[in-house]
Amino acid sequence: MALLIDGKQISTDIKDELKETVARLKEQGIEGALAVIQVGADPASSVYVRNKKKACEYIGIRSVSYELPEETTEEELLGIIEKLNEDNTINGILCQLPVPAHMDENKIIRAIAPQKDVDGFHTQNVGALVVGQEGFVSCTPAGVIQLLKRSDIAIEGKHCVVVGRSNIVGKPMALLMLQENATVTICHSRTKNLKEICKEADILIVAIGKPKFINADYVKEGAVVIDVGIHRNENNKLCGDVDFDSVEPKASYITPVPGGVGPMTIAMLMNNCVEAFMD
Ligand code: GUN
Repeated sequence: MALLIDGKQISTDIKDELKETVARLKEQGIEGALAVIQVGADPASSVYVRNKKKACEYIGIRSVSYELPEETTEEELLGIIEKLNEDNTINGILCQLPVPAHMDENKIIRAIAPQKDVDGFHTQNVGALVVGQEGFVSCTPAGVIQLLKRSDIAIEGKHCVVVGRSNIVGKPMALLMLQENATVTICHSRTKNLKEICKEADILIVAIGKPKFINADYVKEGAVVIDVGIHRNENNKLCGDVDFDSVEPKASYITPVPGGVGPMTIAMLMNNCVEAFMD
């Protein structure tokens, strides 16, 4: 029987702490704003963007939104980002991904001023993470670290296996665990003996984008299992990359889907926004 890591509660705690910080800063005359850009009307992106704006409202920071049509040119988008970079009333800028296929995603990310890149996607912020310097850290992996720390799960010296190597989750996740003095293995679609490697993990972090891929055969007795995936199954029910019912009896701690890692992403985005206007 595993203990459930309650991401909903932990994310609420973080947002409540931030709400207090924002109120204190306001008393000192320090206020900030987040600019949220969405290009096109991808339904999943619209939900994320709406939740990000709601979180801003909850903690008491202003959000400005740019809902741009699918046909927006790359040049037009770069022009808006440039203006926001120069706008002193805007502290954080995020462009919801994916952008339409006619745009170069990397070019868009690089256009955002690193000191306003609250998503932590800019190469300067990623580079800072690699060398252990200050910078914005990608929200989902930063959220996983908070889940572990706030659940009093020791990281130092543990063998952490990260399954998935995306720029947004897998790679920064591995770097953050390394920074916390874990011994880190990164696995991906070309990894041989995936099952055997996962079975060596004290902390198994799964971000592969395949529903219920990881079952009990991949998990060591007593391991901590963190599920970053989110999918809808055939019955329209949410599930993760981990087969929860199979893995839960073997794990010591596990994150549910929904209510595990998911709510942490926005909490950490809010954390980055507050950091952006405290600088
Ligand atoms: N698309 C999926 N996840 C994210 C995220 O964390 N930030 C942005 N900007 N787009 C995303």
